[in-house]
Amino acid sequence: MPVDETQRPKGPTGWIASLTYKSVATAAPRASDLDLLAGKARARNRSLDVTGMLLFEKGCFLQTLEGPPKAVAELWSSIERDGRHNHIEVLSEHMTAARVFSDWNLLLDGRFADMPREAAAPPAIPPAVAGHLARLVELALNADDLAINTMIAGFAEQGWTSEAILSLLIEPAGRALGDAWLDDRCSELDLTIGLSMLQLAGHAIRYSPSAQSIRNSRYSILLATAPGEKHMLGTALLADQFLAQGWQVDMAFPESEEALTNQLNAQHPDAVDIGLSDAMPRQHAIDQLRSTIEHSRLVVSEHPTVVSVGGRLFAEATATARTVGADHARKGLAGTSVRLAELVRQTRKA
Ligand SMILES: Cc1cc2nc3c(=O)[nH]c(=O)nc-3n(C[C@H](O)[C@H](O)[C@H](O)COP(=O)(O)O)c2cc1C
Repeated sequence: MPVDETQRPKGPTGWIASLTYKSVATAAPRASDLDLLAGKARARNRSLDVTGMLLFEKGCFLQTLEGPPKAVAELWSSIERDGRHNHIEVLSEHMTAARVFSDWNLLLDGRFADMPREAAAPPAIPPAVAGHLARLVELALNADDLAINTMIAGFAEQGWTSEAILSLLIEPAGRALGDAWLDDRCSELDLTIGLSMLQLAGHAIRYSPSAQSIRNSRYSILLATAPGEKHMLGTALLADQFLAQGWQVDMAFPESEEALTNQLNAQHPDAVDIGLSDAMPRQHAIDQLRSTIEHSRLVVSEHPTVVSVGGRLFAEATATARTVGADHARKGLAGTSVRLAELVRQTRKA
């Protein structure tokens, strides 16, 4: 059953749930049983936008599920009731900014040589990369995030694309950690910390090289204070962030709603961020902001603009994007350009 689209985080920058558990098979599954399980699981996971891995070895399962929190919860309620396994133990369950796995794979320990694996097979690792992979696994097991980041940055500098780093290093390293745990070469704690380290590295590599692609796509944003708002620190700080990420940035400190809508009409930016004070609660400003956003959308109706809002009101969750009719409400400044780039990308695709 597909998830409700309105509940799905908007693209890969939305926070996702990650759940890793181990369990014991109640009866020794035949190759055909595992094949059937994998085929059905893949189809359902895809429809739910869930990625991850399932390892089976020595009668034990180890599975990681990553995806929209609602989807992972829905799957989990099926899996934990499944009579094909018991002694289920959740090893880690947390929210994360990035996936380790780009798809969903079932990996077996080789005892089922007759199993058709084409669909599930991960990409072959070129011999030249194997040494780097082993080093990355070692660093992840030692929870050495500094060395992991240095290593990944080195590959990026040598011209490796982020796709190659993800598919040839980070993702296989995630599976290698699972293997290490199944073979008793590391503890559960090592496994879960190692996976988190890879998630962080995956996040860095997915989003850092994005500046060039945003520059090439000429994303533009109008950073504005809410009409009449005197506190402009947040808006000024955002400008640095968006400029560093390659956006074309304009700023506005309009005195009236009309001044803001005029500017939007003249510029038609891909996104507009309207900031209330980061210091004062501005509770009374909600209705006014809703009206401003409504009018802003009217003037740019030919050229859909992503509308983001911010300020203490949103940081403290007194109001949400929906309250004022925006597409995005920032809780803080960090990561705003990444989230808005994703929203603009989706708007352009639609
Ligand atoms: C170890 C194990 C892992 C499983 N992993 C998945 C999975 O990732 N995705 C999935 O759709 N079903 C998975 N299943 C099957 C589900 O438990 C369940 O049978 C299936 O999703 C159908 O759900 P329903 O019984 O609620 O209709 C797994 C089963 C086992 C025993």
